[in-house]
Amino acid sequence: MNLTCSFSTVNPAAADVDLLVVPVYANGELGPGAEVVAAAFTGAISDYMAAAGFAGKPGQILRVPVSGLPALSALLVGVGEREKVSEEILCRAAAIAVRSASAVSALATTLALAGPKTISAEAAAYSVAEGSLLGAYEFRAYKTSGADSELSQVVLLGTKSAEVANALKRAQVVAEAVIWARDLVNEPSGTKSPTEFATAANRLLSKRGVKVTVLNEAQIRAQKMGGVIGVGQGSVRPPRFVKAVYEPAGSKARGTLALVGKGVVFDTGGISIKPSDGMETMKTDMGGAAAVLGAMATLRALGVKHRVVAYTPMVENMPSGSAIRPGDVLKMRSGKTVEVLNTDAEGRLILADALSWADDDGADAIVDLATLTGACVVALGEKIAGLMGNDDDWSKQVQQAADRAGEPVWPLPLPEAYREQVVSEVADLRNITNTRWGGTLTAGLFLEEFVGDTPWVHLDIAGPSRANSHDGEMTAGGTGFGVRTLVELARTFVPPAKKAPAKKAPAKKVAKKRPPVRR
Ligand code: BES
Ligand code: MN
Ligand code: ZN
Repeated sequence: MNLTCSFSTVNPAAADVDLLVVPVYANGELGPGAEVVAAAFTGAISDYMAAAGFAGKPGQILRVPVSGLPALSALLVGVGEREKVSEEILCRAAAIAVRSASAVSALATTLALAGPKTISAEAAAYSVAEGSLLGAYEFRAYKTSGADSELSQVVLLGTKSAEVANALKRAQVVAEAVIWARDLVNEPSGTKSPTEFATAANRLLSKRGVKVTVLNEAQIRAQKMGGVIGVGQGSVRPPRFVKAVYEPAGSKARGTLALVGKGVVFDTGGISIKPSDGMETMKTDMGGAAAVLGAMATLRALGVKHRVVAYTPMVENMPSGSAIRPGDVLKMRSGKTVEVLNTDAEGRLILADALSWADDDGADAIVDLATLTGACVVALGEKIAGLMGNDDDWSKQVQQAADRAGEPVWPLPLPEAYREQVVSEVADLRNITNTRWGGTLTAGLFLEEFVGDTPWVHLDIAGPSRANSHDGEMTAGGTGFGVRTLVELARTFVPPAKKAPAKKAPAKKVAKKRPPVRR
């Protein structure tokens, strides 16, 4: 990342930068610092705004020529009604502003001063910095023409404090992790084998105080992870399993949080092959693992006081002479058997092994992130993740962390009445159901079979893990969705209360019909 955010107490009229970015409220009401721009504009700025159709709505921007300032030009950014300015609005406004400033090398902004008193200076600075750093992201690794953004400096104007300095540092750490995840999600699968993905994780984490163990195929087999081996066996590029452990320094850890992420480096569907249209987007099917590993990279820098352990299985789902076939039965790490009726429902097979390992290791709580079902995108659209879990308190804790982090997450049920749909005639479980409906929920029910009594939350990020176009701080391509939620969760983690293990009656009823042919 070549963009940094700094802080200055200088007056906007004296800020020696290329561009001055100032907020404007609804109906063109000038925000903090905007009076400086109005005074340096030749003419009535209200007429100029009106003529351009600029009304200060969130997301609107307008370039304004100025004279007599050290700043060469100005940019008005709409933030909407004054009382309704939120951290999210500040973050989005900053992102939109930096994206239109790729031709300048330094900008100064008063955006962090635009919020109501209910937003602390620290929170406002954090939001503006995070929005700037994430909004400026571009994946240009394979571009041989055109130019990278020149923007290298965003200066936040306001009053100095230790809290604000800390917020800028925190934003930098978190944004770097999100950007690492985006880079990996955007990386083409040809150069993203399970081995290369694991190496990238090792390179990232080993210099950030996290102990990384990479299991090779033989070691995965020795761990009896039949799901990971089964899904990976169709590819000439063997699977890997990355386990990463963060131990807080000094005082005793206050509980262990387990993070599990789906790392399918490419999902062709396997023998149950996907249609070719849009298959290229399946290079992003490792977004869950990328988010988990990115979040791990921030823990030491943020001084997290809990033990956090990541479990990320990495496989390529390919059709070949050695691939698993529909009808094959896999023996999973937990001992349960699974009839694979569709090789495209592969995520749950690798996650099952990772979840049971986290459970066996004695985690106090588990969260998994996975680009698991198209059905979740049908239900919640492309920008909202689905949340399911087996413990209401833990679900609430994860939901609240996501809300604070500004990542949209919505709860979905795990209906006991649907559990029979994942029971197989020939094995313990089946990896798809007989019906077209409720696919996100039955995938969740399948995963639940592997977590024992440990409080667990599943986030289906199939929608928000990638974006078709820029939207605020979320940029087109891999979004790094989940990193910010996991960082916030790790920072504020409270081990959920142990419950008396409620012995669930194992579902016995067997689904009657064979699955209908899909295509
Ligand atoms: N990786 C896909 C899910 C997906 C779909 C992610 C769209 C992102 C966007 C997953 O492995 C998959 O193929 N799921 C199947 C499950 C089905 C066979 C039960 C699906 O959703 O169609
Ligand atoms: Mn699939
Ligand atoms: Zn998949």
